[in-house]
Amino acid sequence: MSQISYVSKKVDGLKPSGIRRFFDLAAQMEDVISLGVGEPDFVTPWNFIEQSFHALEHGYTSYTENAGMIELRKEISTYLSKNYRLRYDPYDQVIVSVGASQAIDLALRAVIDPGDEVIVVEPSFVAYVPTVKLAGGTPVTIQTEAEDEFKLKPEQIEAAITPNTKAIMLCNPNNPTGTFLSKEELEQLAEMIEKHDLLVLSDEIYAELTYDEDYTSFPSITGMKERTILISGFSKAFAMTGWRLGYAAGPAQLIAAMVKIHQYTMMCAPTMAQHAALEALKNGRQSVNDMVESYKQRRNFIVSSLNEIRLKCPNPGGAFYAFPSVEATGLTSSEFAEQLLQEEHVAVVPGNVFGANGEGYIRCSYATSIKQLDEAMKRMKRFVEKRI
Ligand SMILES: Cc1ncc(COP(=O)(O)O)c(C=O)c1O
Repeated sequence: MSQISYVSKKVDGLKPSGIRRFFDLAAQMEDVISLGVGEPDFVTPWNFIEQSFHALEHGYTSYTENAGMIELRKEISTYLSKNYRLRYDPYDQVIVSVGASQAIDLALRAVIDPGDEVIVVEPSFVAYVPTVKLAGGTPVTIQTEAEDEFKLKPEQIEAAITPNTKAIMLCNPNNPTGTFLSKEELEQLAEMIEKHDLLVLSDEIYAELTYDEDYTSFPSITGMKERTILISGFSKAFAMTGWRLGYAAGPAQLIAAMVKIHQYTMMCAPTMAQHAALEALKNGRQSVNDMVESYKQRRNFIVSSLNEIRLKCPNPGGAFYAFPSVEATGLTSSEFAEQLLQEEHVAVVPGNVFGANGEGYIRCSYATSIKQLDEAMKRMKRFVEKRI
């Protein structure tokens, strides 16, 4: 075979995910406690699984409508109305996707023309920059600051605007920092967004996982619904990562554009997963509440333990990540994560993989049992004490 690379320049230019490298290293070791993975340790609640079996037993094994089963879209619409006072027409303002991941990809591809700039607020979910690039857009990153608790400030949006800016991606609560934005903070951002006529992709996959204050969905802010594609899904709050089910809601014209791409590239989200999600929305409230309560206890435990061992960590308002500073150890994020894995067999993710200002921090997922967290903290204490 010739030496010519058939890989496109666009793909060749993407960096491999910095998170993956740590998973691969950890997988080769024994007795590893992983605080690396961003997924619930809970198994999907049994009644969701049972409804999926039930659907299969009754022969629901074919494609669904491209946009997803209308029963599910109606339930999503009811859920958004009950929880966030949002009104979306299930017939033309909701699409069911293969995870929130596909909804992000569809939204970007539906709106981006070559040369369009999309603002990405870092430290952020590692997929945003690559998906903007794959959609043919240009990501323009904003670095939030630790001293602002990694909260985006309106003037930072203003400074990033150019004549080519089309959209901004927001994530609340945020991965990897756990930062939670209040209604007032979102309203301040909304003013700037309106001023510059931006489209918003609002990733609210962690909306259910908030622990101290009431949650405000971005499109519920006056004037924002018409310019926002709301993205969410079942992976995190409903413990359904492997089912690959998410959704988007937004203005009919934009959802229609997303459905157009979806029908050619995916057809529909998995049918059996859609049945499980239907049950999750109809009868899953208690399970979600129980999991949220458990995450809250774990958050309180990990944050106080990290501060005790002098890894300074503010209280994250949402998601299931703590983002402590490793500055006191004199190590970089990568040195800390690599040495901790080698010496103490605890896997965390270096903060710099989420953006430049993540340097000096590590992401610790607390979606793991208190017993495991306790052992991880003991190992981390030993590791840190050798260096301070
Ligand atoms: C902020 C954020 N958005 C989207 C996703 C993707 O979720 P899904 O499993 O629904 O594709 C993740 C997963 O880690 C995430 O952290």
